[in-house]
Amino acid sequence: MTHRITVIGTGYLGTTHAVCMAELGFEVLGLDVDADKIASLNEGRVPFYEPDLEPLLRKHVDEGRLRLTTSYVEAAEFGDVHFICVGTPQRKGEFAADVSYVEDVIEGLAPHLRRACLIVGKSTVPVGTAAVLADRVAELAPAGSEAELSWNPEFLREGFAVEDTLKPDRLVIGVASERAEGILREVYAEQIAAGTPFLVTNFATAELAKVAANAFLATKISFINAMAELCEHAGGDVTMLADAIGYDDRIGRKFLNSGIGFGGGCLPKDIRAFMARAGELGADQALTFLREVDAINIRRRTRTVDLARECCDGTFVGKRVAVLGAAFKPNSDDVRDSPALNVAGLIQLQGAQVRVYDPKAMENASRYFPTLDYADSIVDACAGADVVLHLTEWREFRDTDPAKLGDVVAQRYIVDGRNALDMSRWEAAGWTYRGLGRAV
Ligand code: UGA
Repeated sequence: MTHRITVIGTGYLGTTHAVCMAELGFEVLGLDVDADKIASLNEGRVPFYEPDLEPLLRKHVDEGRLRLTTSYVEAAEFGDVHFICVGTPQRKGEFAADVSYVEDVIEGLAPHLRRACLIVGKSTVPVGTAAVLADRVAELAPAGSEAELSWNPEFLREGFAVEDTLKPDRLVIGVASERAEGILREVYAEQIAAGTPFLVTNFATAELAKVAANAFLATKISFINAMAELCEHAGGDVTMLADAIGYDDRIGRKFLNSGIGFGGGCLPKDIRAFMARAGELGADQALTFLREVDAINIRRRTRTVDLARECCDGTFVGKRVAVLGAAFKPNSDDVRDSPALNVAGLIQLQGAQVRVYDPKAMENASRYFPTLDYADSIVDACAGADVVLHLTEWREFRDTDPAKLGDVVAQRYIVDGRNALDMSRWEAAGWTYRGLGRAV
């Protein structure tokens, strides 16, 4: 059976999902209420940076397998399976997630449904949301449409979005009927045939699987960053410590990279929304440890500022600071909750002249953080700097020749906020290298 698929919400998740569904051979209609986004996608342009995505988008738009629209009526007529891929940002001034965009999709789509279909939520939502939305679908969908809801969380990473979508580690579906399971087995037939674990469960487990995974990843990062704090006091080296514990398969070396910590549109807001939801459910004690995970993460940013200040003789006033990196991680132009820009902003507030350079995130950085000063290149950012901060581990920064860069700075001080530079190479070129969680 060939399913026609709609993907509602063409942000990061939705664009990737729509393109990958087309790549799997489905006819796909993407929908967004933002007409500018739709216009850009229809011209084959992805409005954010994600390796491999744009050529695939262009291919499927050109070949007519992927179309884009702003019309719910069209989407309702077209789709056998409707994927919801809209955002669930943190509410202003609160920890809880704002699920209003997901609700808007149900309100926009369900009244127009005229035939049997499956609505599949992919957005990250507080546990319990799917059950409420399923009731709303039943209320709104006209009789005879046999519309039904299921939940299928997404685990893709920015920078690897296409690969993660086409070849996921696992697929998790929360369903209320065998019919829904059957449809999703057909949609994901290629991945299931390739041996991808396919876990069929209820709504709550599926919703929790997503936030539990992100909470675990955040905890792993904060754990190693807490060890970095200890190393600073005890004279240890956290990178060696991470290797030493990471060789134990039960622990694993992945996500034990210490530094200025996690940012982005997912981990920080997801752990906060998870805590808020636990509180609503009367289970807040279960997640109080996530407060500490969050606190450790934020402390690393202030520690980085302190290290940089030490390199400036104890004051930023009248000093020049170069910041290499603006994206929350490499291979992305996403600056949401970027630790790099947070650190840059804190240093600027303390009186330094801060110049930032990033290979891909300059446009977003200058749009959302307009008060910072931006440079066109590494050399431009570092000219006359009293200290250079390496805050997003792009390859371009790792490959930079420290000897040449040493010629343009005022002082050869490098703070490696990602513990990713080759310390001996920088030291050999006459730099004083400071890492986080590494003995001086
Ligand atoms: C994260 C999860 O990894 C995905 O599985 C999930 O699907 C996604 O959130 C989501 O909820 O949509 P992403 O935000 O793309 O993916 O980024 P990560 O690769 O997880 O990195 C998050 C942050 O942690 C970055 O700021 C990164 O620099 C930092 N990090 C990561 C570390 O500080 N140390 C590490 O060892 C790993």
